[in-house]
Amino acid sequence: MARHLITSALPYINGIKHLGNMVGSMLPADVYARYLRQRGHDVLYICATDEHGTPAELAAKEQGIPVAEFCAQAHDAQKAIYDGFSLAFDHFGRSSSRQNHEITQEIARELKANGFIEERAIRQVYSNADGRFLPDRYIIGTCPHCGYDKARGDQCENCTRVLDPTDLIEPRSAISGSADLEIRETKHLFLLQSALAGEVEAWVDERADDWPVLASSIARKWLTEGLHDRAITRDLDWGVPVPADTWPDLAAEGKVFYVWFDAPIEYIGSTKEWAEQDPEHRDWRSWWWESDADVRYTQFMGKDNVPFHSVMFPATLLGTRAPWKKVDVIKAFNWLNYYGGKFSTSQRRGVFTHDALEILPADYWRYFMMANAPESDDSSFTWEHFTATVNKDLADTLGNFVNRVLSFSRKRFGDDVPQGGEPGPAEAKLGAEIARLLAEYEEQMEAIQFRKAAAALRALWSAGNSYLEEKAPWLEIKTDKDGAALTLRTAMNLIHLYAVVSEPFIPTTAKTMRSAFDLADDTAVWVTPEEANSLTAVPAGTPFTVPPVLFAKLTDDDLAAYKERFGGEPA
Ligand code: MF3
Ligand code: ZN
Repeated sequence: MARHLITSALPYINGIKHLGNMVGSMLPADVYARYLRQRGHDVLYICATDEHGTPAELAAKEQGIPVAEFCAQAHDAQKAIYDGFSLAFDHFGRSSSRQNHEITQEIARELKANGFIEERAIRQVYSNADGRFLPDRYIIGTCPHCGYDKARGDQCENCTRVLDPTDLIEPRSAISGSADLEIRETKHLFLLQSALAGEVEAWVDERADDWPVLASSIARKWLTEGLHDRAITRDLDWGVPVPADTWPDLAAEGKVFYVWFDAPIEYIGSTKEWAEQDPEHRDWRSWWWESDADVRYTQFMGKDNVPFHSVMFPATLLGTRAPWKKVDVIKAFNWLNYYGGKFSTSQRRGVFTHDALEILPADYWRYFMMANAPESDDSSFTWEHFTATVNKDLADTLGNFVNRVLSFSRKRFGDDVPQGGEPGPAEAKLGAEIARLLAEYEEQMEAIQFRKAAAALRALWSAGNSYLEEKAPWLEIKTDKDGAALTLRTAMNLIHLYAVVSEPFIPTTAKTMRSAFDLADDTAVWVTPEEANSLTAVPAGTPFTVPPVLFAKLTDDDLAAYKERFGGEPA
């Protein structure tokens, strides 16, 4: 047993997330966390809403409510959706929490004490048309590296390079579009990343070889561009204030920390909040203190988040000289596209999480998204692919197997699992196959390779179908009643095994499948190779019920209706 700390990139507070956001952060983290819990590890899965920054301020302004109120409502709305997706966070906090304020300020003070934060007067972009300083992401222009013409002042979303607004060619205000920008002088705090560059590089060199390649390649590419000092404060009302005891001048001017400075610190803040809500969790620092060592920390995120997590946040933590736990493995994702184009929050293009849950239960989405996770490349969502996958894998291969076996047995052998004869060569072959596939599934889950893990899970389901086709109990029963009973008992054991091992992907359905059997003592959390081989966890005589159809087959009419409602045309 090990201790596993898991975090997924904090969803920005503003707006409902689409499936592309979900598949690249929270969902895979949940699947991994569930798997590790089932394997008996001590798991802490932490997430939160990322609440500071300009977009929240602007959205609140638009709705005519105070930003704190806007965030509180938006947090609850997001949390309800994530509950709907069965995301089993240990804690889902808020980056605007008291705990995050305290820890962010504490870390900033330590960085200053160690000489890694410095006050500098900078010349900042002021928009005359908008009457305000423009935060980096509200300046758009052409990326000097790749030529993308809608690059933001903090990062180019096309080539993922981190930018400074002054790097942009032909900069303009993202609010008004005005190019009437001028430069004014003002003081800000800078994190002296250049002074930490050597340490960060050594740190990345030591770890990144173990990361899935997408994350390590982005981290390395980014390091070769050099670590520059970065402003970590902004002129905004909403954020973690610069502490007055340490920087009285800046505090008096109302400067707050940059959202990307306090957001990753909320992984720690949210853990602290979790701890404060339950006396049993009081040792929260043991999750975050490297000297308490045995914690393995895995982060999940979309590829655009990798630079911040692989370089900047580690630099921040290293600079404190305190033994903060740093990430062990970064699992990053490419983009999920919608018919080959981008999902877009602003253009409402694609499938949004609340709409998804309105049309079908979470397990349909969870399975589809993970089985097609954009791991090695971008992947594309189409309704055709979605409905075909649901019908084939979930409705036919899994759902139909479960219903067919249970209803046939009930009809011919009554309310309890039948005994039947002794297992023969077909059962031995099946057991060996199941044990082999289970080992493959475990290996892929340990490697955090979700597509391959889902393929192994699907193969486990298929093996049951092949066995059933081979034994054909509906024919067997005419000549060999004991043989048919054995086949059904074996198949029912498969159902129970599927219930246990499918839980990370389809937790609600897994529970329904499992509770079909009225087992006296069903405490098994996972399946051992011996159990997979012998398929005897559910003994003869166990009462069972036939659950309702697990996955509805989606019809051509459904497909047409989804395309009509969401738009199914290439961008
Ligand atoms: N809110 C950011 C995004 O959506 C992710 C923040 S991750 C954190 O891209 F670590 F900084 F919190
Ligand atoms: Zn670019």
